[in-house]
Amino acid sequence: MKALRPKPRDTISLFGEIFVFREHGQAAWTVYCAEGRRASVYLLEDDRGEFWALKVFKPMFRDPSLRDQEELAVHTRALQGLRSSHRRVVLPNASAARMFPELKYAILMPWIEGETWADILLRPFAGITAPSLEDLIPTCYHLTRVLAQMEAVGIAHTDLSPGNLILDLSKREVQLIDLEDMYLATKPNPRFENLGVPGYRPLSVEHGESLWTRSADRYAGTILTAEMLLFSHPGFVSKFTQESLFTGPRGATENDKKFAEAAAALSGPFPRFAAVLSRAWTADTLDECPRLRAVSEAIAADCPALQGVVARSGVKPSRPAINKSRSPFRPNSRKLSLLVALVIVLVAFYLVFIGH
Ligand SMILES: Nc1ncnc2c1ncn2[C@@H]1O[C@H](COP(=O)(O)OP(=O)(O)OP(=O)(O)O)[C@@H](O)[C@H]1O
Ligand SMILES: [Mg+2]
Repeated sequence: MKALRPKPRDTISLFGEIFVFREHGQAAWTVYCAEGRRASVYLLEDDRGEFWALKVFKPMFRDPSLRDQEELAVHTRALQGLRSSHRRVVLPNASAARMFPELKYAILMPWIEGETWADILLRPFAGITAPSLEDLIPTCYHLTRVLAQMEAVGIAHTDLSPGNLILDLSKREVQLIDLEDMYLATKPNPRFENLGVPGYRPLSVEHGESLWTRSADRYAGTILTAEMLLFSHPGFVSKFTQESLFTGPRGATENDKKFAEAAAALSGPFPRFAAVLSRAWTADTLDECPRLRAVSEAIAADCPALQGVVARSGVKPSRPAINKSRSPFRPNSRKLSLLVALVIVLVAFYLVFIGH
């Protein structure tokens, strides 16, 4: 048994395939490893040059209930924005987990290209230009459509926050990551209920309402949409902290003041969205929060040009996002072709030399 301390180009065998630990883009001497509260996420590459994320949980989060993660994709098949739901779980008896106990219940999933919204929020603090409103409007519209589709089929992320959204601004699309707390009607209540993140947690949850419901994303989804619409606003970007726009729900003077300014700034260019945001802000329960479909429709109504932009950027509702050729879980096609070639040679040999 060893400790997992990978160096760039080290390899690991998982689910019968070899993966290489890839280096960090800005620090080639070390492997890419993003730290979250619950886990470290490594960047791996398979022998076809496809990239994968390996999520290695900290000891207290290595839980047998993570086995269920392999079934997520069954529920998300027809949905956009959930490419990372295609998951394989390293079980305790797998050889990788026997060699590296840290890998127990680790999750292998497709690598999502782009930047987290948390990274983008840090840009002004690092002196990097914020993305343009032209890119942010269709991207946040995509987010609202992803969330509206999920709510329509009774699924919720329940832990929406900037670190759990990956934006591809060139494709103007958003992918959700960190799906372990996903609400599904068929899933048993979690042992430890997730309470969301300050700034994205509705007041009702502060007062004891559960986030284990299909409407869990209404408040957080609306606040994240408002952030994206306000981030490139010249008068507003300085009002963001390094982590969010609001530091909590309504009630604190600082938040209420910021909300009034946000609603005023949005009401000119996005009047329908500003109205939806006000309803979410003042809602006493998640039920009173506008449905995510209403959020999405409000943006579309405020930005008639959006349909054209979305169509051009190829983010229209489409087939499931997973690209089969990226999956390490398909049979190894190279081995299959070799086998077919061998059979053909043997048959030809038989016909030419033995058959006569
Ligand atoms: N599939 C993925 N593709 C690319 N990057 C990923 C992927 N999954 C996770 N990451 C990166 O790793 C970071 C941490 O991942 P994740 O949010 O899943 O961990 P966590 O410990 O559960 O986080 P939290 O702190 O939100 O509880 C993300 O913010 C992101 O930068
Ligand atoms: Mg996270």
